[in-house]
Amino acid sequence: MTDQPRILIVGGGSGIGDCITDFLVRKHNAKVIVQSLHVSDRVERLARQGQIILVHGDATKTKVLDQTFNAVQESLGGLDALVITMGVIGEIETVSRMDMSKMRAAFEVNLLVPVQLCQQYLPLLKKTHGRIIVLSSAADNEVKYAGWSPYCSSKAALTRFIQVLGHEEDDVRIFGVYPGLTRTPMVTDLVSGRFRGKMKDDEIAEFQRRDRDGEIEPPEWTANVVAKLAVSAVHAGDSGSVRWYHEIDPNYKG
Ligand SMILES: NC(=O)c1ccc[n+]([C@@H]2O[C@H](COP(=O)([O-])OP(=O)(O)OC[C@H]3O[C@@H](n4cnc5c(N)ncnc54)[C@H](OP(=O)(O)O)[C@@H]3O)[C@@H](O)[C@H]2O)c1
Repeated sequence: MTDQPRILIVGGGSGIGDCITDFLVRKHNAKVIVQSLHVSDRVERLARQGQIILVHGDATKTKVLDQTFNAVQESLGGLDALVITMGVIGEIETVSRMDMSKMRAAFEVNLLVPVQLCQQYLPLLKKTHGRIIVLSSAADNEVKYAGWSPYCSSKAALTRFIQVLGHEEDDVRIFGVYPGLTRTPMVTDLVSGRFRGKMKDDEIAEFQRRDRDGEIEPPEWTANVVAKLAVSAVHAGDSGSVRWYHEIDPNYKG
């Protein structure tokens, strides 16, 4: 890795990704390209100040993926780490009422585009013995809620993909990270009760209890660990492993 690690973060414009972008620039002196659909004021400002390069747009579109790839080659001249934080909770709906196009859309964003990104950047990452970090979710296996079949099943597939890719590749290391329940737009809707009648009442009540009891975490905790992982500042364990952020780095607040 060069003095200034070269990093692409897809989904780095908001939520946990926005914080990762901020840490990479501020704490780790990284050269960063952010690809994201919408972007926070902070990421917008970093782009205006020339501290990052921003590729705005929908990563499910080939044109946007091509623009991103060109930006990486032209502006970074190589890549040390690919960080994938993009993800959608998707349509919260019971299977009996599910519109199949919504199920496909969740798999596109949560699984198929991440797979395509890994495939696209493997040649560059092999040259640098780089790494890939992907945010999965404990909804892949540990937890389940009514109406969450698009999210749970696409994240389950993503976790297995990370494990297999880590097993396949010797020259590139890949790590999956589970964030905690983190205060981002994704979680605000759950607490608001917007999905009543789709999720079970006791499930919504549990999210609301966790909110009242201060158990919803700030995005900085997971972001701190992912940023350290991206610049190899923390021991990551075996390639292909998918672990909680606080297991990877108990010093996640530091
Ligand atoms: N928050 C949690 O409690 C939690 C828990 C476990 C796992 N996770 C996972 O952690 C990751 C980040 O979640 P978050 O809470 O930070 O969610 P978030 O705030 O919604 O961030 C997700 C990011 O993905 C981007 N994105 C979605 N669709 C995209 C597309 N088609 N093209 C480009 N970018 C796209 C979003 O852009 P837009 O904002 O423009 O849509 C956003 O920047 C996700 O993979 C999520 O599944 C989150």
